[in-house]
Amino acid sequence: MKMNKTILITGANSGLGKDTARQLGLKKETEKIYLACRNETKAKAAKADLEKITGRTIFEIVIMDVSNPDSVRLAVAGLKEPIDALVMNAGGMGGNSPMDITSDGVTSLFATNVLGHVVLMDELLKEKKLNKVALYAGSEGARGVEDMGMNRPALKTSSEDEFAKVIDGTFFDEKTDPMEAYGYIKYIAALWMSSEARNNPNLRLITMSPGFTSGTAVMDDLPFAKKLMFKYIMLPIVAPLKGLVHKLEKGAKRFVDGISDDSFKSGIFYASKAKRLTGQVTDQSTIFPDLNNSSYQDNANAAIHRFIK
Ligand SMILES: NC(=O)c1ccc[n+]([C@@H]2O[C@H](COP(=O)([O-])OP(=O)(O)OC[C@H]3O[C@@H](n4cnc5c(N)ncnc54)[C@H](OP(=O)(O)O)[C@@H]3O)[C@@H](O)[C@H]2O)c1
Repeated sequence: MKMNKTILITGANSGLGKDTARQLGLKKETEKIYLACRNETKAKAAKADLEKITGRTIFEIVIMDVSNPDSVRLAVAGLKEPIDALVMNAGGMGGNSPMDITSDGVTSLFATNVLGHVVLMDELLKEKKLNKVALYAGSEGARGVEDMGMNRPALKTSSEDEFAKVIDGTFFDEKTDPMEAYGYIKYIAALWMSSEARNNPNLRLITMSPGFTSGTAVMDDLPFAKKLMFKYIMLPIVAPLKGLVHKLEKGAKRFVDGISDDSFKSGIFYASKAKRLTGQVTDQSTIFPDLNNSSYQDNANAAIHRFIK
């Protein structure tokens, strides 16, 4: 186990990000946790709550909207010291219009989950502000979750052009379920992390899914019927009976372990075992071999960088 003294967590005001901050805040070795959030009011409330729960005053707010590269650059420029660990957790279903295109030419879903995080890591590396480890919040959706109607991403060539079409939304049609697009987007992010892991052998860069986790707001952006099904039926009733969902503490602990435990190897995407959404984690390339293809990894990375000015 390596000690991380300073950690930055994106989307730290609620759900998994906040509980990751709580668990890390309770570790004696943690000296500072940056709560990177887009909304100052929510960030202040989370900071006060975390201080109360942990009894420590180690939390500092950084205003950062990860769907906006300029906001990310500004936040990194304002960091006075390098961080040991980075948890790229902000994200979810991309708001009310996930397939709308942002001024960077990508879907909102992609901007929220991936684009800003790529800029964040690029800037931290450029400014030598990342010392040890970075973790990206992945999802089992990236290798398909048949039980939830999410098919495994199926690309024809996995070329840079094809990944770019997923990123700018032209890969999909109007009928595509944003939950399915979410799986593709988390897949591209896992490929990017593996590509960057080869580019940065001095760092440990991993993707970790929290598993299907209750007690977060991730389902709130789904259209009404889907929200009804997932938030009020699937998550609280059906999934626990089938052992498909675990509590917030368990999901966040995967992130805490991911950054703290060196046995999680750089370049690997860890998530639940095949047909599971909870329990032990395993290397997802044993389930979906495309994740291990270094050309696909580099193509995904290059495609993302087409959209970064
Ligand atoms: N819960 C699950 O079952 C599950 C499973 C697999 C993966 N994940 C992943 O885990 C991560 C955390 O999800 P969660 O379940 O904890 O959801 P959540 O409760 O909705 O938390 C998401 C956090 O991200 C923040 N965020 C969203 N867009 C942002 C932006 N543009 N800039 C900065 N912050 C932004 C939100 O801030 P606001 O409060 O301002 O919206 C919130 O703090 C996501 O990446 C999600 O895809 C979750």
